[in-house]
Amino acid sequence: MTENNKNKIINLDNLALDIYGDRNFAESYARKIEYNAHNALYERPATLSLIKNPSGKKILDAGCGPGVYSSWLSDNGACVTAIDFSEEMIRLTKEKTGDSARVIQANLNLPMDFLEDEEFDMIVSSMVIHYIKDLRKLFSEFNRVLKTGGELIFSTGHPFTDYSLHPGGNYFETEIINDDWSSYNISMPSFRRPLNELFSTIKETDFRIDELLEPQPSEECRLKFNDIYEILSRQPWFIFFKLIKEK
Ligand SMILES: C[S@@+](CC[C@H](N)C(=O)[O-])C[C@H]1O[C@@H](n2cnc3c(N)ncnc32)[C@H](O)[C@@H]1O
Repeated sequence: MTENNKNKIINLDNLALDIYGDRNFAESYARKIEYNAHNALYERPATLSLIKNPSGKKILDAGCGPGVYSSWLSDNGACVTAIDFSEEMIRLTKEKTGDSARVIQANLNLPMDFLEDEEFDMIVSSMVIHYIKDLRKLFSEFNRVLKTGGELIFSTGHPFTDYSLHPGGNYFETEIINDDWSSYNISMPSFRRPLNELFSTIKETDFRIDELLEPQPSEECRLKFNDIYEILSRQPWFIFFKLIKEK
């Protein structure tokens, strides 16, 4: 693994925890993703289109952030467990879901010992896996806690766009990149992985790809954020997978 920013000492097990754990950032993030272009009008419609019939299902929201998915899933009849490593995100998810979800502060880089084998019908992990150091370990844990035939739905940065925005390194290596999140005035670190690394992790952890989306931005996005719409309709920003646990 290589790292673009050589001058900073980075704890790879807690990548971006200093940002997600900051109260001001967490509250600002919670507000913005309710209406912004990239989350509300691009990421969320695509992820929700992959979640069919949540009612009556046991669902893990892995990296729940401020609880938008947890609360939507609970409202739609799912029995939800939500995990995040940020105390602030856990607080916001508890506020948003009330008593309707089990909310646990935990680091997804570590084994989820507090969850039973084959406990869940579905895992939703929206925009989280690029903060995880060892994807094989995480996907093995996801496999363990899912029932056979269960679904793992996740989104992440699109490898094509991530590399074209950070062309200095080597596409074929996993690298830490730092994105300019100008609307928050921060630089957000994450792991950029080549597509074949993602694919081999999926295969080696006994999942099969059922659906893969490179979505177009919505009409609402065009009307409200035309400049972003123009970019998103020509370049895939995120990539979306629905996987099935084979065994
Ligand atoms: C971009 S936000 C997405 C939040 C939520 N899934 C959504 O789409 O609204 C990423 C979330 O992943 C969490 N996260 C990142 N690394 C984590 C880790 N190692 N363990 C647990 N949570 C993590 C962050 O705290 C943050 O809440």
